[in-house]
Amino acid sequence: MTTPSAVRHLSRPASFPSIFCRGSNRLSSTYAPTMRPLTLDLLNPTVAKVEYAVRGELAIKAEEYREKLKEGNHGLPFDKVISSNIGNPQQKGLEQLPITFTRQVAALMEWPALAELAPNAFPKDVIARAKELSQEIGSIGAYSHSQGVPFIRKSVAKFIENRDGYPSNPGHIFLTGGASAGVSLLISMLIQSPKSGILIPIPQYPLYTATLAQHDGAALPYHLDESSGWSTSVESIEAAIQKAKEEGVESKALVIINPGNPTGALLDEATQVKLIELCEKHSLVLLADEVYQDNLHQRKSHPFTSFKKVVAQTQSPVALVSFHSISKGVSGECGRRGGYFECTNFSDEILAQIYKMVSVGLCPPVSGQIGVDSMVRPPKPGDESYELWKKETDTIHEALASRTKTMAARLNALPGVSCVDSPGALYLYPQILLSEKARDAARQAGKEPDAFYALALLDETGICVVPGSGFGQKEGEWHYRLTCLCPGVDEYVGKLENFHKSFVQKYGV
Ligand SMILES: Cc1ncc(COP(=O)(O)O)c(C=O)c1O
Repeated sequence: MTTPSAVRHLSRPASFPSIFCRGSNRLSSTYAPTMRPLTLDLLNPTVAKVEYAVRGELAIKAEEYREKLKEGNHGLPFDKVISSNIGNPQQKGLEQLPITFTRQVAALMEWPALAELAPNAFPKDVIARAKELSQEIGSIGAYSHSQGVPFIRKSVAKFIENRDGYPSNPGHIFLTGGASAGVSLLISMLIQSPKSGILIPIPQYPLYTATLAQHDGAALPYHLDESSGWSTSVESIEAAIQKAKEEGVESKALVIINPGNPTGALLDEATQVKLIELCEKHSLVLLADEVYQDNLHQRKSHPFTSFKKVVAQTQSPVALVSFHSISKGVSGECGRRGGYFECTNFSDEILAQIYKMVSVGLCPPVSGQIGVDSMVRPPKPGDESYELWKKETDTIHEALASRTKTMAARLNALPGVSCVDSPGALYLYPQILLSEKARDAARQAGKEPDAFYALALLDETGICVVPGSGFGQKEGEWHYRLTCLCPGVDEYVGKLENFHKSFVQKYGV
């Protein structure tokens, strides 16, 4: 009979320098020289291939500056770091306040006794909502259903039905710890070998390439067209599929980010129909990342239409996964980790496999699920919370729209800068012309030219952006992404303008 390893360990000689023995000296252990330290070559090789620029070199340096600024004599040419690198609306120093209704419901779910201890602090509809959720969920400290609380999934299905005018099945909805968790799961399930590929827009949000690298799948880039407002063309996707085929790579899925990150572009319905037909033609799963569906700055001229609606309208058989999140929109609850994905045209067999995979992780964060409920079931006219909710959400939409417009106009006025005035999402993605002199200086510094520009911007102004090389761009073109979340546009953009002008003076355009 073999001895279980735990028992074998306990039965080692008394001289064995166990870490459980007080006073043991592990360095002098006779066993230590044989022990192999954990080194990089012992990790899964795919880990080394993962890159995520949003929290890359620039963000790390910005954090160092932030620490340095706490010292009295920091010697830096700025007195604050401006985090324009990440779409994290409630980040310290940014403007977006949490929605009161969302936080009140969350507070009562955390500590239900508050409703009795401070009855006047909460509107009646908030108390009623928390009671209703408590009856369904119980304690938020307990695991929920692995797919997410059934009651909340029903609320999500109703939200989708109201948005699109077509039925939605709560059984086909999976609540997640942010959209990232859902994207990652779907990619991990679709990649069968390094010869499985997923079509990714360029520029893209680096979650996609990072997750593909982790699962050893192929990222198949297709380019968005900057000259027509970062539009998506079927032809460029067809070309990417063809190229992949020639390289022996099978295209398995198409990622569409709508509204786009980093571009902010919005698709029109006619293009959506063409993209669905393309997926039908090539049997592609359509991964529709719609986390910015409520960040619309030109609602009338550029409305959002979900892929779910167009698939239902055209009665397409395409397998569609639609992702949404509480991190963006007016909610901006990035740290709460809540989101969902809805599967359309998926067989019960596949849904069962997805369910099995999500159950390995037990359940999505329950506080995030409650955040999803507040996002999909905001107060209605007539509810006590409604007026405040309306005022808060209108303020967020208006501030973002006006900042985006002002920033795009001022960036466009700079020499060598062109910027699409994005109708959606939280970002601008200006193109910058960088002279040969600037490119030479970048080469000497061992940096990509746009990273060189972004590092200089950070060093001189404390403004942290993400170079375009982190999102992908055409050979010989340079961009950077900045968020439109920072308050004090005048001061902030003023610093950007001054920096750019002095950069141009030094290196030319
Ligand atoms: C396009 C896109 N998809 C997904 C995510 C991830 O969002 P979440 O916080 O819900 O994981 C982001 C975050 O910035 C994003 O920009």
